[in-house]
Amino acid sequence: MDKKEILNLDAKYVWHPCAQMKDYETFEPLAVSHAKGSFIYTLDGNEVIDAISSWWCKSLGHGHDAVVAKAKEQLERFEHVIFANTASEIMSQVSERIGNIAPGLDKVFYADNGSTAVEIAMKLSLQYHAQVGNSERKKFLSLKNGYHGETILTLAAGDCELYTKPYSDIMPKIDKFEIEYCNAGVNDEKFQNYGDDAWDKVLKQLEPHAKSLSAIILEPLCQGAGGMLMYSADLLRRLRFWIKENGVHLIADEILTGVGRTGRMMACNYADIVPDFACFSKSLTSGFAPFSCTVCSTEVYNAFYDDYFTGKAFMHSNTYTGYPLGAAAAIAVLDILENGDKFNNNKNYLRDADLNSELLRSLMENVNAETNALINIRNMGYLCAADLVHPVTKEKFDPKQRTGYQIYQEAVKLGALLRPLGDTLYFMPPFNTDVQTLEKLMKITVQAVNNVVKK
Ligand SMILES: Cc1ncc(COP(=O)(O)O)c(C=O)c1O
Repeated sequence: MDKKEILNLDAKYVWHPCAQMKDYETFEPLAVSHAKGSFIYTLDGNEVIDAISSWWCKSLGHGHDAVVAKAKEQLERFEHVIFANTASEIMSQVSERIGNIAPGLDKVFYADNGSTAVEIAMKLSLQYHAQVGNSERKKFLSLKNGYHGETILTLAAGDCELYTKPYSDIMPKIDKFEIEYCNAGVNDEKFQNYGDDAWDKVLKQLEPHAKSLSAIILEPLCQGAGGMLMYSADLLRRLRFWIKENGVHLIADEILTGVGRTGRMMACNYADIVPDFACFSKSLTSGFAPFSCTVCSTEVYNAFYDDYFTGKAFMHSNTYTGYPLGAAAAIAVLDILENGDKFNNNKNYLRDADLNSELLRSLMENVNAETNALINIRNMGYLCAADLVHPVTKEKFDPKQRTGYQIYQEAVKLGALLRPLGDTLYFMPPFNTDVQTLEKLMKITVQAVNNVVKK
């Protein structure tokens, strides 16, 4: 099929995710031919740098050879069988690996997307409390500006009006609490010391809920969809302490932050804490397959373990729960993160994360030096973000101008898939993107920003 035929059929039949389809009249979708490493190749013969790891998941880029090989090996055996009452080498192996990511979180429950993994954690927490006699613990509390997925319950746990407004009448009410952010990311002095006054303000918001909470749910240290907002490891440590003291669960939504994206296996590692539940997806398979999981402790698991007719079982299931191709991809990814990347000079992406993070930051600083249009440059691991402002007045743009969206269009024309969140620009490339490509990304970003803000 040629590009025209593809786009005609696309326009006739496809309803794309997270988009006002009318926008497609003036900005046609990229017609993808293939993708490899840090690049998407179009049918026009163009090479586009995937600066956002395609919805934040391609941690090792597109079609990493080790991931492909492991998935092919599994494909030769079986691609999927019902995961209720079956066991297999691939699922046992991946479960052992995932069950060892965080000490004490050794029970792994699978699903096929991030939203469901978070919803499972919330359901598990509620059911746990009901089954151990804490029937008053029926509420959740979450952070302002959070995002946890697209099911009604996870939309309610999140705080992004853009995604929730039409459904707000039927969403359960989940209170939100406010914190202060680290505008420079890990380089912000608040990152290691949140400060007692700021903590007191948080405490005042938590205390009224202490006895009714089942769990507090949060994206540890970086709130992605809410605007790549970063906060203090010290705050997370203090929260963990309060949560434990008060018999509440902590659900760490590590869908974005986990498995290396923030430079650690879990963002929680920066605070030296272990949550009660952690949710992983995206980077876990390098975006290879719909695959997610929720991990928890044996103590939680035991509250569900009883004779069938006690009704204590966790009766959740999804068709693709425990998808073996995802499991194979996850094993390949975890091997690379633990032992180095044989296909890329044995590079160790976790060990080198802080250095690589500073490189991303310096490139973003260069973008600012050439455009004068950024504030709040912040970085953590393989993620660097900044907010767009007018180069002269330094004021934020009127959202109605859709400045970030215009930059997105310019950048795609110039050869980079940058997809700002509103007016927050960010680099979230695959961990193995080479320096030359990152420098090219920086130059394209400069040009795209200048073409829009200096118009
Ligand atoms: C922190 C966080 N939680 C949950 C999700 C939802 O994951 P999925 O899109 O796989 O349902 C996302 C997706 O971006 C996310 O960033």
